[in-house]
Amino acid sequence: MPITVTPFDAGIGADVSGLDLARITPAEAATVKEAWIAHQVLRFRGQKLDDDAMADFSGYFGEPEKAPIGFKNRNYMTDRPEVTVISNIKIDGEAIGGLGDGEAEWHSDMTYIDMPPDASALYALEVPPAGGNTWFMDMYHAYESLPDDMKRRLEGLTCKHDATRSSDGRLRQGYSESYSREELPGAVHPLAIRHPESGRTALYLGRRLNAHVMELPPTESEELLDMLWGHLYENARVWTQQWQVGDLVMWDNRCTMHRRDAFDPASRRLMHRTQIRGSAKPVAA
Ligand code: SIN
Repeated sequence: MPITVTPFDAGIGADVSGLDLARITPAEAATVKEAWIAHQVLRFRGQKLDDDAMADFSGYFGEPEKAPIGFKNRNYMTDRPEVTVISNIKIDGEAIGGLGDGEAEWHSDMTYIDMPPDASALYALEVPPAGGNTWFMDMYHAYESLPDDMKRRLEGLTCKHDATRSSDGRLRQGYSESYSREELPGAVHPLAIRHPESGRTALYLGRRLNAHVMELPPTESEELLDMLWGHLYENARVWTQQWQVGDLVMWDNRCTMHRRDAFDPASRRLMHRTQIRGSAKPVAA
């Protein structure tokens, strides 16, 4: 079967068909990589992947990163250290994965470190009958749709990305409840970055909570960030993934943000996830 790439009407993301990701060849992976840089988010339906196949597939796009440590200071168990679990399922009262059943707010993954991951992939093993959708936002469009005076205003500005809380708002292991603006643990990145592979400019916000613009006093920083997030909510180009078992979705963390809807705690959702180590520090556009 030929590989077919069908862009979504939303203007971000594409479906890729004609591929068995468990048996992908280097030539096919090169085609996927090209489509991924062009469309930012790719979905592959009807896949059957064990953890080895998922880690091997991810390896075509960079160096798969070991799964981040969960809230109990341990990794969630999978057959490969590069594969972690996102799930609300509990066994003997113990969560088998991260993020539970609540909403995850808009974010890019791990922008609170100096070299955030280039990419992440999520593979659906069990899905709830309703809810738990994952939304992806085009951060090239977010930048390109800003008025010119705002684009100029962002030149030379950087933002602190908070390391202390996860996208579901929980305090991470080892951090305390409150820090001063100066002491907040995290990483500093430009507000507008140049994508190292596409050469395009993306707005780079990470997440809203505790973010601050380093070069501005607190009130001005809040005003600017509120304005940028307000612009996102009014002008966002968004595609929503409604999960089916066997879907694998991979996204470019440098030019997208994502969020997840809550779902009924009585239903089960089980995803396996990989992440590609950052290949470069984000640089100003
Ligand atoms: C994530 O934010 O990485 C997980 C998204 C999801 O559970 O759909």
